[in-house]
Amino acid sequence: MKSSTQVGIVGAGPAGLLLSHLLHRAGIDSVIVEVRERAYVEQRIRAGVLEQGTVDILEETGLGERMHRQGLLHHGIFLRFGGRSRRIDFNELAGKSVMVYGQHEVVKDLIAARLAAGGDIRFGASEVEVEGVTTARPSIRFRDADGVAQEIACDYIAGCDGFHGICRPLIPSDVLRIYERVYPFSWLGILAESPPVSEELIYTNHERGFALVSMRSPTISRLYLQCSAGDDVAEWSDERFWNELRARLGGEDVPDVVEGPVLQKGITPMRSFVAEPMRWGSLFLAGDAAHIVPPTGAKGMNLAVSDVRVLAAAFAEHYANGSDAGLDAYSETCLRRVWKTQRFSWWMTSMLHRFPERSEFDARLQLGELDYVTSSHAAAQTLAENYVGLPMN
Ligand code: APR
Ligand code: PHB
Repeated sequence: MKSSTQVGIVGAGPAGLLLSHLLHRAGIDSVIVEVRERAYVEQRIRAGVLEQGTVDILEETGLGERMHRQGLLHHGIFLRFGGRSRRIDFNELAGKSVMVYGQHEVVKDLIAARLAAGGDIRFGASEVEVEGVTTARPSIRFRDADGVAQEIACDYIAGCDGFHGICRPLIPSDVLRIYERVYPFSWLGILAESPPVSEELIYTNHERGFALVSMRSPTISRLYLQCSAGDDVAEWSDERFWNELRARLGGEDVPDVVEGPVLQKGITPMRSFVAEPMRWGSLFLAGDAAHIVPPTGAKGMNLAVSDVRVLAAAFAEHYANGSDAGLDAYSETCLRRVWKTQRFSWWMTSMLHRFPERSEFDARLQLGELDYVTSSHAAAQTLAENYVGLPMN
């Protein structure tokens, strides 16, 4: 079956869904092709901190209702090191706050809004292929959920298909530059039916390794431990997890860990990755398809949001008055913010984790840095302004 649209979007993660939503609001037609089922993308547990700019754009475009009802507004975080917690006050230092609201909740809200507005999302697609991105008429071919061959002719393609997607490899290898750092550890994360350990997030530097306590609601905790890069979840029983968390939170004024049933457990590798350029012909990459940040600082989804905001505005300019200035500047505009956010995520990761190859000297430097960051107004402000989100492009 042949059909056509203005912007063909590969991937129904936060990037693809929000792009489709913003395009619809600008009167631009799009179709999203997604290999997974709807239930799968709606239940995929990921990070959950929204920068103020992300909150604003969701709110301004009619997606704020459930987020404001269920999300938790946070005005600061704790950095815990040397067995003590020190607070960074975002409101005082940066005049902004963040919202703790799971990424999959944002995804649910976006899907509901797209479907309510008659949006076209093809879940459960297979054999997805993108063709002709350097011709005047690119297309997406795939088999739909019923196995029927489909071909969608598009003006443009948005590659929002995540790190393992098919779009980035369409950029020829002599054009595509990859900048990458893989960390020698991973994050073991659990979702547990237990009250939050603390009212605000605690990022902990401990000699046994990093720990982070976060939450999803007044009854659900989201907890992370640094683990070895090669670890298997099977090696981490619930009991081992809770014991290790308690050990890493040890010291003075020990946060109150209340154990509860573990609802989900998984390991996330840690990587910094940037692909340049983010545009090739009529293909535009956005979100994880173009860049990955380690989760320390929770920037992944926020970066995806800032990319598609720039992309939607550039398409709006193109279709409204024929100007390609925004599309031509897309890659450069996004990459400036991407690299600043890469720097912040790398810095938070470096300051808080135990690096197997590093010495005691390096561990002492981390403590010196944490002491500086939590005692100097200038340094604390630097952390705060990055955490709540640098200006959108
Ligand atoms: N065809 C169609 N869809 C695909 C294909 C393909 N060949 N390959 C992957 N996908 C889909 C995935 O199933 C997924 O739903 O693309 C989507 C990509 O979504 P995400 O991985 O969530 O990426 P993105 O939308 O860029 O959001 C970035 O998600 O990975 C987290 O931490 C990351 O928070 C960040 C955010
Ligand atoms: C989360 O709640 O999942 C979370 C919070 C902060 C991070 C990463 C993940 O830095």
